[in-house]
Amino acid sequence: MNRMQINFTLNGKDIHLEIEPGETLLEIIRKRLGEIGTKKGCGVGECGACTVLVEGRPVDSCIYLGIWVNGNDVRTVEGLAAKDGNLSEMQEAYIEDGAVQCGFCTPGFLMSATAMKENGRKYTREEVKRALSGNFCRCTGYKKIIEATEKGLKS
Ligand code: FES
Ligand code: FES
Repeated sequence: MNRMQINFTLNGKDIHLEIEPGETLLEIIRKRLGEIGTKKGCGVGECGACTVLVEGRPVDSCIYLGIWVNGNDVRTVEGLAAKDGNLSEMQEAYIEDGAVQCGFCTPGFLMSATAMKENGRKYTREEVKRALSGNFCRCTGYKKIIEATEKGLKS
């Protein structure tokens, strides 16, 4: 099949690439662009390790085709800190609350939590749990992740 040209922004940087029509956004981010903060877990849209924001909306990049981001703004965990290196409020909350153990799931959780924070609405605990239900963690038992997310939403 013919390769296709796509143009998008990744963490504010203009990207112009020729891709195969079947290439996933995760493959493009990790293999073509070398941004390895976004993780591959299940590879089939179940675990949320690969969550990135497309136009501010969390998507599972392992099942999201690269051609779909043409003209869009894409953000990964590498884009959360400020240019001066200061971590985002959500990242700070995860560190302060010990919401990270092995860290494999953390980029995905941070992207889902950041999308919640940026939409500006208030969340009950049940709504926080529901909003994070597409992200799996094998280590923490979720309690600290939920508490850290609530703290990050308030700060
Ligand atoms: S790696 Fe994408 S949802 Fe698991
Ligand atoms: S901290 Fe290890 S999978 Fe979540």
